[in-house]
Amino acid sequence: MRKQIAAANWKMNLTLAKGEELVDQLLDATTGLTENQEAVFAVPFPYLVNIKNKLAGKSNVFVAAQNCYNKVSGAYTGEVSAEILKSIGTDYVVIGHSERREYFNESNQMLAEKINICLEYKLKPIFCCGEALEIREADTQNSYVENQIKESLFHLSAEQITGFVIAYEPIWAIGTGKTATSAQAQEIQAYIRVVLASKYGKEIADSISILYGGSVKAANAKEIFSQPDVDGGLVGGASLMATEFAAIIKSLK
Ligand code: 13P
Repeated sequence: MRKQIAAANWKMNLTLAKGEELVDQLLDATTGLTENQEAVFAVPFPYLVNIKNKLAGKSNVFVAAQNCYNKVSGAYTGEVSAEILKSIGTDYVVIGHSERREYFNESNQMLAEKINICLEYKLKPIFCCGEALEIREADTQNSYVENQIKESLFHLSAEQITGFVIAYEPIWAIGTGKTATSAQAQEIQAYIRVVLASKYGKEIADSISILYGGSVKAANAKEIFSQPDVDGGLVGGASLMATEFAAIIKSLK
């Protein structure tokens, strides 16, 4: 069975002390993770080492960076490379979050470059895709997301994409309290798997974890995660609250 993942995206929130306290409060919930379940903490760059150390010796828990640069190294003041992230023990990197696409003009092509560099340094990308409200209203979300996937991922080999992690996050559901229904999430995530299968075959498509993100909370996680093509969630606001995120972890299949 492919991995079921509860991924916290803290975004630009929490102090180090508050983040460490939150992780401490979640250790009980993470202890209950089964072999094919994972909890991932996408934390601000400066906390990666601290949170990684807090999780030392625990099974199935990982840290993620929220971004990395699309160049290997060099004179790029203020940027953080995949090599730097690897050197401090980072496991995953969130690539192409809609906030990065929107506020930092990250194109599908740039994201393809970031993914290549992550793979070169043995970091696991969590590739984000998802449509804005006007695209959903025009009912063109499937072709929009298909294009995001084709332009950023289809250059990868079958070996590179096996066991990959994709997060489908409709922009209209992020931070709005307006979740996609479980049926909407299932429909497009099943479509994403069909798109992947068209290039890589069913077996590889079935190995790829597809998370849902957008106003996931304790009250709706179980219903959303119960869908066959939803393999967990990428969670913003509710991941900042221990009881909420603990319940979300426990909602994994
Ligand atoms: P919210 O859970 O706050 O809607 O954010 C979702 C998200 O952007 C996770 O990456």
